[in-house]
Amino acid sequence: MSEHVLQVGVIGTGGMGTRHAHNLARAMAWSRVVAVMDLDTARASAVAAECGARVYDDAEALIQDPQVQAVVIASPDPTHATLARACLAAGKPVLCEKPLATNVQDAQAVVAAEAALGRRLIQVGFMRVYDPAHQDVKQVVASGQIGRPLLFRGYHVNRNPDHTPRTLAEVIVNSAVHDIHSARWLLEDEVAQVFTQHVPWDAADPASCRLLALQLQFERGGLAFIEVNADSGYGYEVTAAVVGEQGAVESQALRSPAVRMDGVRGQAVEPDWLARFDTAYVREVQAWTQDVLAGRSSGPSAWDGYVALAVADAAIESARQGRPVPVEVMAKPKIYG
Ligand SMILES: NC(=O)c1ccc[n+]([C@@H]2O[C@H](COP(=O)([O-])OP(=O)(O)OC[C@H]3O[C@@H](n4cnc5c(N)ncnc54)[C@H](O)[C@@H]3O)[C@@H](O)[C@H]2O)c1
Repeated sequence: MSEHVLQVGVIGTGGMGTRHAHNLARAMAWSRVVAVMDLDTARASAVAAECGARVYDDAEALIQDPQVQAVVIASPDPTHATLARACLAAGKPVLCEKPLATNVQDAQAVVAAEAALGRRLIQVGFMRVYDPAHQDVKQVVASGQIGRPLLFRGYHVNRNPDHTPRTLAEVIVNSAVHDIHSARWLLEDEVAQVFTQHVPWDAADPASCRLLALQLQFERGGLAFIEVNADSGYGYEVTAAVVGEQGAVESQALRSPAVRMDGVRGQAVEPDWLARFDTAYVREVQAWTQDVLAGRSSGPSAWDGYVALAVADAAIESARQGRPVPVEVMAKPKIYG
């Protein structure tokens, strides 16, 4: 792309889409938000006014707008696969929020469509790879100083102020996909099998989920433990740890200063992902827009989005069967290296 300023359209202007729109409009000089779309047009209009963008009430019309050179998909999970394919059909690069789809079949269809196109246009919103704390862990692992990585441990704790019950499939497909991607990224290996255990939200409904524990085995023998708490009761936290043959590394959970007062040493816990990953979201769109302008792709791919869902699918099946389940993936198309 020869232009020096990338003109972006944002689909979905809830919490995540608004943050992306603000970052695209304000965090760098080389991108502009020219169009926004949301079923809630009042919400879209508010973001459009802040960014100087036009408002659509139809996602396909936004994608087809000739002024829109690239698209951010931040509408609800079930819309992602269809919209990502519409962007592929229009030949427009897209930052698609995770998950790439809500099931592995739809994700596979997106990968097949991109492979048929012959070039990568999709980046999936696994933004933890842009988080400084995660990058520090990656750097230690990649340097070789802790030796061969043997185990990933992911701790993912959600605040759920309304205590909204969640299903097992939602917790796996919407939340644990982040940790599955982190495990693959840090261990640089693929998941061979998965074993799922969970504490149901409602003891009478095994399809509900209060707390999820995933145990992964990788192709080269490494392991991962992933804990996702759907309602911490205290705040939002994510940590990533890797145990190696000669040492171990773990990200710091909290960025707040330690305050000592009234006989207590305390540290504030962030309320949600927007606060915890604020830097990661800025870096994510900075890297994505630079890549699009340069005509290259370096972020998490549609393949990464698909594989995370293949693991998620096996995890759901493991819960159903009550035993470890192998992860099956399609042959990797050449465009993903
Ligand atoms: N990467 C991350 O860290 C991260 C964090 C939070 C959410 N997400 C993802 O971002 C997406 C949005 O999440 P959110 O927290 O902003 O949700 P949200 O509920 O705050 O916002 C969703 C918005 O989409 C709009 N919408 C609903 N149906 C639509 C449609 N068919 N077309 C266009 N807009 C539609 C809603 O009106 C709402 O404004 C989800 O896919 C979620 O999984 C990613």
